[in-house]
Amino acid sequence: MKKQTIREILQDYKKVLHHDITVYGWVRAFRSNRFIALNDGSTINNLQIVVDFENFDAELISKISTASSLKVVGEVVESQGAGQTVEIIAKKIIILGDNFTEERDKTILQPKKHSLEVLRDQAHLRFRTNLFGAVFRVRHAVSFAIHSFFNKNQFFYINTPVITGADAEGAGEMFGVTNFDLNNIPRDEQGDIDFTQDFFGKKTNLTVSGQLEGETAAMGLGRIYTFGPTFRAENSNTTRHLAEFWMIEPEVAFNNLEDNIDLAEDFLKYVIQYVLDNCKDDLDFLDKRFAEEQKSKPEKERAKEGLIEKLENVITKRFKRVSYTEAIEILLNSKENKKGKFVYPIEEWGADLQSEHERFLVEKHFECPVVLFDYPKEIKAFYMKLNDDNKTVAAMDVLFPGIGEIIGGSEREARLDVLKTKMAEMHVDEHELWWYLDTRKFGSVPHAGFGLGLERLVLFVTGMTNIRDVIPFPRTPKNAEF
Ligand code: 4AD
Ligand code: MG
Repeated sequence: MKKQTIREILQDYKKVLHHDITVYGWVRAFRSNRFIALNDGSTINNLQIVVDFENFDAELISKISTASSLKVVGEVVESQGAGQTVEIIAKKIIILGDNFTEERDKTILQPKKHSLEVLRDQAHLRFRTNLFGAVFRVRHAVSFAIHSFFNKNQFFYINTPVITGADAEGAGEMFGVTNFDLNNIPRDEQGDIDFTQDFFGKKTNLTVSGQLEGETAAMGLGRIYTFGPTFRAENSNTTRHLAEFWMIEPEVAFNNLEDNIDLAEDFLKYVIQYVLDNCKDDLDFLDKRFAEEQKSKPEKERAKEGLIEKLENVITKRFKRVSYTEAIEILLNSKENKKGKFVYPIEEWGADLQSEHERFLVEKHFECPVVLFDYPKEIKAFYMKLNDDNKTVAAMDVLFPGIGEIIGGSEREARLDVLKTKMAEMHVDEHELWWYLDTRKFGSVPHAGFGLGLERLVLFVTGMTNIRDVIPFPRTPKNAEF
């Protein structure tokens, strides 16, 4: 017979009621030598196994404890207890995996509450906890919904290279890739590293974004998106930055900035709705946890809405669209700025916005997601379309409450001459990007796209606060343990 997950059994319990079935899982708790809470990771809900210990070997029973892995055969019956519809009356129990109790007791598998920091140090075991089970099931649902949204809208999924010669963002925050023996690096006559002798015959790095390659694909396939790992060697040890994160980058031929903003808004709302519709049990759990968290905060810092309420509100309201110029006016005139409450005070038009400014706009001023557009050209990447004012580019950032920037994108500069001028101004090497420039030579069209940081969206929908807790194995400065 096909193996069934606990989720399937609980969902379709009527099919198995009064039948003998086989279940597998890990023991979450063993109460009174009689009730086992069994979990197999498929759902946050445990399946209760009732053990009449008179019918079992005492030694076997004594070996069952939190973290044991079991195979259980038994009859499905309606449950007498509260909080569960069915339970299993055990007829046969097989211990699958030994439980090294002494070692276990030094891990997060010991049955007590652990801090997120402690759980992070044992990232390989935290999948076993209710919290991380919920987070990673929701992360899965978010990823699935992303593919589903694009598939429904006739986008093609394109895989762009992880190893590339390009610095797509022109920000120089790259991890180099080499097969040189680091103790014996070849050098040329000037003493510079001789990359012609490296594996690819040139300097390469891990990608910071698949956008440039994605644009070339959109120039043939029309609507594409990437979904892959991206790498940034920015040394920012914050709760919102990872050195390795997953980015989703749609790119659409014939779209302008407004189309791009519409797409971003529809996309985010679709994914959040999907999670609301499909992750009820996990969201209920995360919602309760979120409420608990708020209680431990000073009154002023408490969220005004519950987690689920927050998600529902984001879906129903239209995102506020505000130009960079308007936003700077608001910031300049804010009490916070005038009273010197910002770490980086806003002095004039042209200033780059820090996350404190973004969060002020979203959380205090507008109190809803905000899309900022038309940024000064100096603070944005070379590939963005120059507006008629010659001062701003057709950029957009989507800002979310509690998160700040969740999406960054733009209409692209489709005019070859303007693009070349901007590259020269921003010291981006034309020769390195000859293939990118080709897209502007043979039937160049207006096009636009954006990048969503997957982990930032997962932070938002789970109500977690540290980005290290929404990716299975976080990569941050001085941390690549696993
Ligand atoms: O704003 P960014 O740098 O934009 C790009 O990379 C463009 N090429 C996207 C495009 O137009 N196709 O990054 C996009 C998003 C950010 O809004 C943020 O959500 C996320 O990627 N992000 C990070 N997430 C986690 N850790 C980091 N270090 C991140 N850097 C950016
Ligand atoms: Mg950005």
